Amino acid sequence: MKIIITGGGGFLGSQLGQKLLQRGELTGPSGAPEKIRQIVLLDAVFHRPATDARVRQISGDISDRSTVFAAIGGEAATAIFHLASMVSGECEERFDDALRVNLDGGRNVFEAARAAAGRPRVIFASSIAGYGGAAMQDPNTDRTKLTPQTTYGMTKAICELLVNDHSRKGHFDGRTARLPTVIIRPGQPNAAASSWASGMFREPLKGVACALPVHRDQCHPMTGYRTVIDSLIALHEVPESQLGDDRSYVLPAHRVTPNLAEALVREVAAERGITPGPISEAFDARIQGIVSNWPVSVDGARATALGLPSPPPLKIIVEQYLEDFGQPAR
Ligand SMILES: NC(=O)c1ccc[n+]([C@@H]2O[C@H](COP(=O)([O-])OP(=O)(O)OC[C@H]3O[C@@H](n4cnc5c(N)ncnc54)[C@H](O)[C@@H]3O)[C@@H](O)[C@H]2O)c1
Repeated sequence: MKIIITGGGGFLGSQLGQKLLQRGELTGPSGAPEKIRQIVLLDAVFHRPATDARVRQISGDISDRSTVFAAIGGEAATAIFHLASMVSGECEERFDDALRVNLDGGRNVFEAARAAAGRPRVIFASSIAGYGGAAMQDPNTDRTKLTPQTTYGMTKAICELLVNDHSRKGHFDGRTARLPTVIIRPGQPNAAASSWASGMFREPLKGVACALPVHRDQCHPMTGYRTVIDSLIALHEVPESQLGDDRSYVLPAHRVTPNLAEALVREVAAERGITPGPISEAFDARIQGIVSNWPVSVDGARATALGLPSPPPLKIIVEQYLEDFGQPAR
């Protein structure tokens, strides 16, 4: 099997690639595990070269149709994970680029999937930013109307509908994972309006201050990256007979506030002999305004019923991050 991961140089795409290489096989339309022959990572930027002979990195822009068609090719037995995207803060500042990359880029990926042989499975990484405004509930479910209040969320909601319609038409077998905010992103803060969600764990555990742009009691749905990677793979492996006409599944998440995160960081830091950095107030009305128009909670019962995993307790997510990226236990 050949696998394409757009956004394969990013936080989730690079880890998805690693996990698939470790597994060595993936179940697709044949219903049986198939050996992974090649993983093509398509991304605008790669931060490190590939070290596995099965991996091919293609540097390119998904808004360029010929680049996407060349990467996906016309072969049968292809799995496509579409993760490339501009992040929320960038989309809000650069409307035209957001449409070019997230919408036109998404359409290119879907059209290339449609042109490929064998009706591939396409997994699309959407976002809970698709929820917004007066339609929001507590919790939001797969039945909550999507009325996004950000350009990022709007592009995700449109792509979700495209995935459903391409699937209905038989162009490909699409499935959407609507992702809560995924913690803990390693490295530096990014331009996502949810960047603080990882920062309030990551920075204090490094012993440095985290500048918090939102209220300390701001509730936000969060899950761990290991669970998300497992969910994307599980969603690919679900037999199509178990899916209906709505291929979008919001993933289960914890309700997390900065107050809760701070208490947890203190507990983990004490156990590991780390002196935690402070979470300091740096209120930003622009970021708070975006976050206030996102859901405070989601109910992923429909994803769970499909067999997708739930996140472990928040403390385990923090410990997994330290194991994978941070200071080992003393
Ligand atoms: N991480 C989260 O908290 C979260 C939450 C909800 C949804 N998502 C979605 O999951 C997916 C992966 O998220 P992530 O956290 O890994 O983000 P990321 O920013 O780390 O990765 C996205 C990748 O897309 C690439 N990209 C951007 N524009 C491109 C273009 N024009 N052509 C080719 N590549 C381009 C970037 O270079 C980046 O490597 C995204 O679609 C994101 O919207 C993520």
